[in-house]
Amino acid sequence: MSRFYATTPIYYVNAEPHLGHAYTTIVGDALSRWHRLLGDEVLYLTGTDEHGLKIQQAADAAGLAPKDFADQIAPKFADAWQRLDIANDDFIRTTEERHRAAVRELLQRCYDAGDIELDTYRGKYCVACEEYFTEDELLEGSLCPVHKRPVDDFEEENYFFRLSRFEDRLLEHYRTHPNAIVPEFRANEALGLIRSGLRDFSVSRTSLSWGIPLPWDPAHVAYVWFDALTNYLAAVGFGDGTDRYQDWWPVNYHLIGKDIIRHHCVYWPAMLMSAGVELPRGWAVGGWLLVDGEKMAKSSGNVVTPLDLVDIVGVDGFRYYVLADTAYGNDGDFSYDGLVGRYNADLANNLGNLAARVATVVAKKCGGVGPAPSADSALAEIATAVVADTTRRWDEVAPHRALEATWSLIHAANSYLETHEPWKMEPGAAVDAVMGDALEALRLVTILASPALPGTAQVLWERLGMTGAVTDQRIGPDTEWGGYLGGVNVTKGDPLFPRIT
Ligand code: ME8
Ligand code: MG
Repeated sequence: MSRFYATTPIYYVNAEPHLGHAYTTIVGDALSRWHRLLGDEVLYLTGTDEHGLKIQQAADAAGLAPKDFADQIAPKFADAWQRLDIANDDFIRTTEERHRAAVRELLQRCYDAGDIELDTYRGKYCVACEEYFTEDELLEGSLCPVHKRPVDDFEEENYFFRLSRFEDRLLEHYRTHPNAIVPEFRANEALGLIRSGLRDFSVSRTSLSWGIPLPWDPAHVAYVWFDALTNYLAAVGFGDGTDRYQDWWPVNYHLIGKDIIRHHCVYWPAMLMSAGVELPRGWAVGGWLLVDGEKMAKSSGNVVTPLDLVDIVGVDGFRYYVLADTAYGNDGDFSYDGLVGRYNADLANNLGNLAARVATVVAKKCGGVGPAPSADSALAEIATAVVADTTRRWDEVAPHRALEATWSLIHAANSYLETHEPWKMEPGAAVDAVMGDALEALRLVTILASPALPGTAQVLWERLGMTGAVTDQRIGPDTEWGGYLGGVNVTKGDPLFPRIT
């Protein structure tokens, strides 16, 4: 059995979970669920980033010690993910001991390799980014290009990670692993960052105490990014004195937003090379969900809370929207009209309508018992192609394309019904043949759509008369045409996706 390890960014606890965090987390969840359907043993990791100046400042403003502050916010992320049906296998907090141990181990290895050295640094620092900028990267008036607010002048004696030494090795790695970063245009962004020249970055702070002390010089605490990135290793046991982490490492995909390409696709692989740890197999880079053309962020005051949207379209309606509405990698524009429009078109009308109409006809013309499909159905060939296409698209980490492929089977089944009009036929073999085919198409759709719609897929699965869990189905053996055996009770139930008017 193969293993599949995927991660989300660990989110800063200075803000509460918003639509942007939910977006990345849902994409990773759906991808992980797809891999469970493939039969992989899956580890899906998310968590919270709790050290650094930004968190210290937020805690100060709240009048709390940083750890107490983090203790209040971290559970809000865990709860939000539970409410959104995220099946993460682990949730890591950077204040945990397992994480501290991993950070110390990685720092020590890079230090021993000679890639961390003491130096003085002076520069413009954006606390919101936890990142230095050069003058030409700043907007007019010395503003951070991301947050559009003033940067600070910092001068510190710091330990530096000699990133500049890794330019050739990084380029060579990406040259020999051309599909490591998806989608491709995001890979080009990472290459652009490397080719434009790599500056050493500081990995420690003395002006701050809220962090992990360097093992060889405890007057310094680790820079928040060096700390944060290491969570991906910490969660699989790196730093516990064994090689256990290699059961899961290298990670298959780091899911990230485009804002953190530099840290994940440039800093991180260089740190790992220095430490003698294998590089990640893949990075999947999403765009931003914009609200009125602006990145959603606490600092912009345009935050949309995912749980409010769940009240409108349900958990699966929301999950489907974020997966299907934006081409993964590109920016997407969030709007209520877009959310409701998507829901009504794809879920209420297409999937919901197919399920309802099949159950209605089976009740009226087949005595409520689902007939078996025919081997030579016109839908069989389409279904086989849809399974292959859906598989290929998930493999490319293109959920919008995967769902489009799956939905083409819904369209085909709906037009199959419209062509044959079983509701006008007399009960008998002809109706049974049509309905068996439609039920089989629905069975396949239910499996294929389950990574996006886990709750609804299970309900539909049972309504079709299938037993067990849809999540126990396997792409391949259970997605061949003809798996619906027939002779089972089909139930209609309430609308799966009531139309929103
Ligand atoms: O950067 N649209 O944490 P963070 C889409 N702690 N995705 C968005 C988004 C938006 N408007 N806003 C946020 C950090 N995201 C660090 C990460 S990892 C070792 C440390 C998502 O709380 C997107 O995935 O600022 C982005 O990369 C991430 O949240 C940043 O979360
Ligand atoms: Mg951010």
